[in-house]
Amino acid sequence: MTASDVRVIGVVGLGGMGSGIAQLAIEAGYETVAREVTGELGETARGRIAHYLQRKVDKGRLEAGERDAALALLSLTTSVGDLATCDLVVEAITEELDSKHALFAELEGIVRAEAVLATNTSALSVTEIAAAVSTPERVVGMHFFNPAPLMPLVEIIRAELSSDAAVETAYQVGERLGKRPIRCHDTPGFVVNRVLIPLLNDCLRVLDEARVSPEDLDTAMTAGAGWPMGPCALVDLVGIDVHVHASEALYEKLREPRMAPPPRIVAMKNAGLLGRKSGRGFYVYDD
Ligand code: CAA
Repeated sequence: MTASDVRVIGVVGLGGMGSGIAQLAIEAGYETVAREVTGELGETARGRIAHYLQRKVDKGRLEAGERDAALALLSLTTSVGDLATCDLVVEAITEELDSKHALFAELEGIVRAEAVLATNTSALSVTEIAAAVSTPERVVGMHFFNPAPLMPLVEIIRAELSSDAAVETAYQVGERLGKRPIRCHDTPGFVVNRVLIPLLNDCLRVLDEARVSPEDLDTAMTAGAGWPMGPCALVDLVGIDVHVHASEALYEKLREPRMAPPPRIVAMKNAGLLGRKSGRGFYVYDD
């Protein structure tokens, strides 16, 4: 399987990341089979994608005909069996190793032998995920960044047993999706999160140490360090539960105190303050 053989892309899990990846795939002209556990969640994702494509039309960056052609490439399903025709599948489900193992084992029995299986995990080991299948050479990481349609990077992660062909196919598909891929090995946090997670945790500790408000901390890092958005707004965007989970996963593997999530953000997660997706985190969101 080379990138030019890839015609149909599967996306499993249509939360913020999965729907963003599905949007990239249809905009790049791939027939896309997108799977969610319920039809309702699938339709919510389709609505989100249609909304962002419409915003592009409104701003003159996309023709109405191109929007319609892209949306026509998207088929929703609740059945993993419908991914049988996929040449490359990107998994973007919940960050639980057991759930990913079950999905990859199921996928292995459904897609054909040459198809590439990619995980969008942000903090789990791609090698451990690949251990669920008898053909680990076709498993790679394709780690997109939030929001996937806007952030240029995709990390292409080589797990211990990934084949050169699978890594190269994922890299080239990443390019065709309009991204700037980089190649790296399967180490905790890969490249960006290895640096960003402890950095964000330092920022959150400064909230209490310097007794600065979230608004002022965000102003400090945008106006004083040139960040495109402040750390509190960024953690709200990523999801407070996602950030806590990634911090815990990295801490478990590296045992560096800076990786551990600060108690303040663990308390926010436990209280259901998850950021944008729950309507409230460091900030309150109306949309
Ligand atoms: N999906 C698709 N399109 C989107 C979108 C989304 N989630 N969010 C916004 N857009 C579109 C919208 O149409 C929007 O225009 P309208 O508001 O007019 O509809 C358009 O993009 C532009 O949006 P913004 O005006 O908000 O764009 P901006 O210029 O302010 O940039 C940003 C936004 C790219 C998010 C920028 O603030 C940025 O780079 N922030 C940093 C983000 C970052 O660091 N992400 C990485 C997080 S870490 C991670 O993801 C790793 C992990 O494993 C958890």
